[in-house]
Amino acid sequence: MTIRFSLNGETVEVDAPPTTTLLDWLREERALTGTKEGCNEGDCGACTVMVTGEDGARALNACILFMPQLHGKAVRTVEGIAGPGGALHPVQEAMIEKHGSQCGFCTPGFVVSMAVGHLRGRKDHDDVLAGNLCRCTGYAPIVRAAEAASDAPVPDWMRDEPLDVPALGFAPESSDELADWYQKHPEGTLIAGATDVGLWVTKQHRDLEDVAFLNRCRDLQQIDVRETSIRIGAAVTMSDLAPVMREHHPSYAELIRRYGSEQVRQAATIGGNVANGSPIGDNPPALIAMRATLDLRLGDTRRTVPAEDFFLEYGKQDRKPGEFVEAITLPKNAPDLRCYKISKRFDQDISAVCGCFNIAIKDGKVLSAAIAFGGMAGIPKRATHVETALLGQTWSEETITTVLPRFSDDFTPLSDMRASADYRLKAAQNLLLRYFHETSGHPVSVLEVRA
Ligand SMILES: Cc1cc2nc3c(=O)[nH]c(=O)nc-3n(C[C@H](O)[C@H](O)[C@H](O)COP(=O)(O)OP(=O)(O)OC[C@H]3O[C@@H](n4cnc5c(N)ncnc54)[C@H](O)[C@@H]3O)c2cc1C
Ligand code: FES
Ligand code: FES
Repeated sequence: MTIRFSLNGETVEVDAPPTTTLLDWLREERALTGTKEGCNEGDCGACTVMVTGEDGARALNACILFMPQLHGKAVRTVEGIAGPGGALHPVQEAMIEKHGSQCGFCTPGFVVSMAVGHLRGRKDHDDVLAGNLCRCTGYAPIVRAAEAASDAPVPDWMRDEPLDVPALGFAPESSDELADWYQKHPEGTLIAGATDVGLWVTKQHRDLEDVAFLNRCRDLQQIDVRETSIRIGAAVTMSDLAPVMREHHPSYAELIRRYGSEQVRQAATIGGNVANGSPIGDNPPALIAMRATLDLRLGDTRRTVPAEDFFLEYGKQDRKPGEFVEAITLPKNAPDLRCYKISKRFDQDISAVCGCFNIAIKDGKVLSAAIAFGGMAGIPKRATHVETALLGQTWSEETITTVLPRFSDDFTPLSDMRASADYRLKAAQNLLLRYFHETSGHPVSVLEVRA
């Protein structure tokens, strides 16, 4: 099946196995070796490319981007960032001017991320560049270069347009087509953002037989803000979700800001993060604490389950063969929600513990409590013993201190490379204290140290 897209302004047609990565294809088939292979797992940004679709330009990691995900899109590699005749892009000029490169291995990836940020008018350079790692220059000159270029006009050659293309067999165009495909191929693999599935191929060298890509199902990419709820299509990316959550659930939006990196957020979908059942995924604790529901679909049959009931045990979810996550529904308002991510690095790191709290207080007493954690058990899980101990109690530091031992009734966390069991338990307890202080008018910022 022929995949058609534009590459640095020129239309190309490719017949390649569906799990061929763009990085391999660029380097091996087109000798476009400016796009570097560093980690090959989405962590370092050396392979960053710009991909333009109907919704604008995104910076994506080519190492975990499969060729069919490009059908109808425009791809610009570092070779296409300079203009005709070799005219430098403003970010390239600024990188030279500000001494933003030493060995140069990371530089093409940085330049592409900077060029996409520049095109989109982004000024939050730290966030834009958090997914690009540099081992020798140091980030200050690179960020200075991004700042220096930010007000220069966008060069004409950077304005790519998506292409009109015919449907591709393994890329359904709607939820209906996907439902039909999956019912006929219940053993097949769905690929949404490929930020998990990409690694199955590049790191585990798995052969995926039947695959279906979700990125052309426009109806799965809608966010519908209703009177009292928000319905999020399963294929909405974390970066598209962020602005809507900033308006309605700012604490959840802050959690999303710390989810992976710009390149990961631009690809990863909320549906993929829920469906993979990971015990350390960042969305499930927030969704559970908000008492969100999941719409599941098998053929034409739909059912709705509370998010917390979807996770049965490690590696096992309440999902039948051929059934997929179609949407997630949240309350429009959850003013008591706070989400806390504990990880070794602030950016681009998987949570050691992720705690989400949604506790309602009335007349000084706990009226209702939903507390959910990632990283504390084999599944994202509610702290039901802690919740029960809180209900009806006076909302005070004394009450919190009394209920802290209940965490051991709810969780027996593991020790692994991210954190020890003791650390996890202590951190979870401290997060409840932090929530108490924050909701009592003493906000705690992890970016500030106070004496
Ligand atoms: C560098 C890096 C950093 C990361 N950082 C974080 C982080 O900070 N926090 C975090 O939580 N995760 C993180 N992840 C993990 C990853 O981003 C998420 O799990 C992601 O949300 C998966 O979504 P996806 O769309 O990429 O899924 P895919 O990889 O496409 O799919 C994941 C799984 O879900 C299935 N699937 C996808 N969509 C559906 C659907 N609608 N219905 C049923 N099944 C479906 C797929 O078949 C597959 O089994 C990171 C990953 C990388 C590579
Ligand atoms: S090679 Fe490191 S993110 Fe792709
Ligand atoms: S310049 Fe050497 S890794 Fe960044």
